[in-house]
Amino acid sequence: MNQLANTAWVEEAWKKALEKTVVNSERIGAEFPHASQGGKYVLEGANWWTAGFWPGMLWQFYAESGEEGLKNVAERCEERLDEVLDGYLRLDHDLGFMWTLTSVANYKLTGREASRTRALKAANYLSARFNLKGGYIRAWNPWREGENNSGVAIIDCCMNTSLLYWASAETGDPRYRHIADAHMDTVLAHFIRPDGSVYHIVNFDPDTGEVKEKLGGQGYAPESAWSRGAAWAIYGLTLAFHHTGKREYLHAAQRVAHFFLTRLPEDHVPNWDFRAPDEIRDIRDTSAGSCAASGLLLMAQLVEASESHVYRDGALKIMESLYRNYGTWDQPDEQGLLLHGTSNYPENRNIDVPLIYGDFFYVEALARLKEAGPFYWE
Ligand code: GLY
Repeated sequence: MNQLANTAWVEEAWKKALEKTVVNSERIGAEFPHASQGGKYVLEGANWWTAGFWPGMLWQFYAESGEEGLKNVAERCEERLDEVLDGYLRLDHDLGFMWTLTSVANYKLTGREASRTRALKAANYLSARFNLKGGYIRAWNPWREGENNSGVAIIDCCMNTSLLYWASAETGDPRYRHIADAHMDTVLAHFIRPDGSVYHIVNFDPDTGEVKEKLGGQGYAPESAWSRGAAWAIYGLTLAFHHTGKREYLHAAQRVAHFFLTRLPEDHVPNWDFRAPDEIRDIRDTSAGSCAASGLLLMAQLVEASESHVYRDGALKIMESLYRNYGTWDQPDEQGLLLHGTSNYPENRNIDVPLIYGDFFYVEALARLKEAGPFYWE
């Protein structure tokens, strides 16, 4: 066992999650689960932002276990995504989440040319969302007829830029990483507060690039501290440092990590918003915990050796608590791996339920503890 995982529970946790995922691969198949309600994952269309997490989790387990059944389901999910990549006009910035964990994963593991082509197409569509004046990747398309959200960028997009860094490394064409860098510079300038908390949404004037307003989004309020947003920043900025070597990205990621780690409740699993009012603050978001933990483990590898323990220990505490206090190992009828995720509190959607991205990052963080890569964002 390696230095990071000198505790027996990591192997136990991996084994239990793998067993459950093998059963789930029969129950769920080549579909796109998002949130589990009453024990069963509710399925979304291939166009929904979460479509990559289930196949991504299958690839993570396949890489370590060689279970062919998992690979087959992951490949069928990737093929189903073609209907979106080739025929859907409303693709938004989540192209990074969707094709990094499907086509980049497949290409990294099998060298499949068709997967490389898909991931490069996705990187081109993502690049085309860049707004030159504001230096940001536009988040969404209009949800309703007549809506104009062309000035909106969100913290979640920190994770999407990995696809652009991958595309530049793969093709030798620097344009993709120039766009990724410009977006991440905008994140530093406008999303990260001095105390290390983050804004979810910044709305720019799409013609002049000026900041018009900052919004609460999936957090409680504009000046509150949505924990999954912080997790996206910790992980995404650490990845940007990994890809570029620019220390300002690492330092910002560390600032957010310090904010996050020092706000955790006693059991080390984050509240959905660290600044929500008392009566609703105790609601947890396990997905913020597992995502932050995976990012912190990468950070622990990249910082000076003397600082590494801060991030490694923080991640281990989160992960051990998720395993011992939030897992569904004694609930065979529950498809989700982790209970108590919160997708969107302000819109009253998927509160206190298993979420597929919580499960994905939990498995990915366990794989980091086992040194059982590859890791597709890298
Ligand atoms: N990217 C959307 C979310 O974090 O819920």
